[in-house]
Amino acid sequence: MHIELRDIRKTFGDVRANDGISLAFEPGRIYGLLGENGAGKSTLMKILAGYQPADSGRILLNGQPAHFATPADALRRGVGMVYQDPLDFPPFTVLENYLLGRDRAVNLDFRQAAAELRAILDRYGFAVDMDAAIGSLSLGERQQLELVRLLAGGAQALILDEPTTGISASQKDALFATMRRMAAEEGKSIILVSHKLEEIQELCGHAFVLRKGQLVGETALPCPNRALVEMMFGQVPERTPRPPAAVEQPLLEISGLGVRTQRLTVGDINLSIRRGEVFGLAGLEGSGQALLMKAVAGLLPAASGRIALDGLDITHLDYHQTRAAGVAYVAAGRLEEGLIAGLSLTEHILLAAPRRDQTFFIRWGAARETTSGRIALCEVVGVPDSTAEQLSGGNQQRMLYAMLNEGLRLILLDQPTRGLDVRSADYIWELLYARRREGTAILFYSPDLDEIIERSDRIAVFSGGVMSRIVEAARTTADELGHLIGGQQ
Ligand SMILES: Nc1ncnc2c1ncn2[C@@H]1O[C@H](COP(=O)(O)OP(=O)(O)OP(=O)(O)O)[C@@H](O)[C@H]1O
Ligand SMILES: [Mg+2]
Repeated sequence: MHIELRDIRKTFGDVRANDGISLAFEPGRIYGLLGENGAGKSTLMKILAGYQPADSGRILLNGQPAHFATPADALRRGVGMVYQDPLDFPPFTVLENYLLGRDRAVNLDFRQAAAELRAILDRYGFAVDMDAAIGSLSLGERQQLELVRLLAGGAQALILDEPTTGISASQKDALFATMRRMAAEEGKSIILVSHKLEEIQELCGHAFVLRKGQLVGETALPCPNRALVEMMFGQVPERTPRPPAAVEQPLLEISGLGVRTQRLTVGDINLSIRRGEVFGLAGLEGSGQALLMKAVAGLLPAASGRIALDGLDITHLDYHQTRAAGVAYVAAGRLEEGLIAGLSLTEHILLAAPRRDQTFFIRWGAARETTSGRIALCEVVGVPDSTAEQLSGGNQQRMLYAMLNEGLRLILLDQPTRGLDVRSADYIWELLYARRREGTAILFYSPDLDEIIERSDRIAVFSGGVMSRIVEAARTTADELGHLIGGQQ
């Protein structure tokens, strides 16, 4: 199916999210859609997928004008989209969810639906258990399920908005292999929105670049990364190098720590992190690094061992007590865990304030002013009265940083630059380095081994619930880390 967008415009208040964008997608090809945070990528794709209407402009499918009132409408005409933030999932099994998603006019019985679903899963090499509860699925599996729903609905064009932010490398390889087959064998058009240039280069044959709501360039791929970055930002941004760690004073001391959840047990973690140190955790998703951070943050109880912060035993403190001791935890899931849809940015800053600063009567004027200052510092594109869901994905991520209070001893970060463009990611690290100069230690997990090596002083390697070793970042490579992570499997 040939898709053409003509002069698409969409404003939100003063923001021109899409400012006259025209471009076309051919069948059987894979496109990358690139641009800095807030450039207008998700806005454009949501218009194409019937999630929201454009203010003006036209969508042409095979030359015919199309008007989509809803995503279901768009899917009937062959356009399906997997959204940047996972939608809410009902308490059903995979199979029940599939039945619900099928067109109601078609009277499917369970067995027929099961056979159909199995056929799609097999054809595309998806490994999702049909009887599993949706709530128990990983992000990658939910994504596959969403794809299955779109494919069963007859999608000829598939839009994936940052599909690889929460999935493992092997899930990504499987997803990409499926995308290639869909394009080559079935003539589907695929549009990938991503900040990861390596992925765009690997998968896509052509890239469109947006900046401030306009199409500023396009190119055949692969091409030098530098050319893409220049189109995205107008210039190649410089990277802030990691300043040396100065202080040798221990801050966080963990001995014999064990943490248990239904899915995973980690045991016997021993770790000493210094003031002002940046400490990276490497490992596949679900290897124990998240449990370690949650136990330190007081979000999960320690089953054994001891956690001390500046000599103070914090092992059995709850989340609020741990926060009061100077520990901040920044979650990976923005709208799931970190931010609250419907609340304004000012309300977020108020909620995040230390208890001693919270008064019974809220002084809104002062709170708005504080919020303005914080969002300016963290370069959040929005105003104090914006609600969380009005921010673009990358700006939601920056908002999490705007909520960090002064004078912290330790910041725990799960995927600190998830969904950020390279310039935003560098800026966030600059803010974190400034904290580090004040003696704050930083403990973080990232699926991106290059980020771990570039940003950390030392790195702990996790695999299968075991912390296998600690290495100096300056003396290792991404290859070696990858090896260590895989070695224990
Ligand atoms: N529902 C909304 N209400 C108000 N403003 C919005 C809304 N949706 C998007 N915007 C604004 O439109 C602009 C473009 O946002 P969009 O989500 O399209 O960016 P993006 O390119 O997808 O960025 P990211 O890489 O951060 O996901 C941003 O300034 C954003 O704040
Ligand atoms: Mg987006």
